[in-house]
Amino acid sequence: MEDFIEEVIFSNEEIVKKCDEIGKLITEEYKDKKPVLIGLLKGCIPFFAELMKHIKCDMEIDFMDVSSYQGSHSTGAVTIHKDIKVDIRNRHVILVEDIVDSGLTIQEVINLLEDRGAKSIEIATLLDKPAGRVIECKEPKYICKTIEPKFVVGFGLDYNQLYRNLDYVGVLKRSVYEK
Ligand code: IMP
Repeated sequence: MEDFIEEVIFSNEEIVKKCDEIGKLITEEYKDKKPVLIGLLKGCIPFFAELMKHIKCDMEIDFMDVSSYQGSHSTGAVTIHKDIKVDIRNRHVILVEDIVDSGLTIQEVINLLEDRGAKSIEIATLLDKPAGRVIECKEPKYICKTIEPKFVVGFGLDYNQLYRNLDYVGVLKRSVYEK
């Protein structure tokens, strides 16, 4: 374990096992639906890559990079830095996130994709931090792990753009961000 990590909360072995379970569920539920997996950059990357290996039905992938208004309520203000190319009208969408915390980002993206005519939208997330919600958002259907309100890094999650490359999720030592 790296010296800036206080505790490993989700090992690589556990992540792979959970992605296998969720991949099997998605395969079963979407086998005749040709879903579009839309990953929210950049944090989704390792989870997206692991999860898609376990989905055994026809599917497409695309990516978005957005930042939502970080206030106490949802305003509909979402800045799109990179948009998807696929036309999602009448398509079944699975949004792939690294973590759902306040719910603001995911809800803004859902509003946008609903306006574009998606037939259904579900959320798959590596981590869920339900204690962080500041709005009533659509709740993730596929969750690898529900965690306490602690700041975590690794497997896509960053602190100041660092630590995304860890192959596990761990709690970052307070001394790293309090110095
Ligand atoms: P939300 O809009 O608050 O749900 O934000 C989700 C985004 O906040 C994630 O995609 C992450 O980029 C970031 N985030 C929330 N909690 C953490 C954390 O514990 N570690 C790293 N990033 C986090």
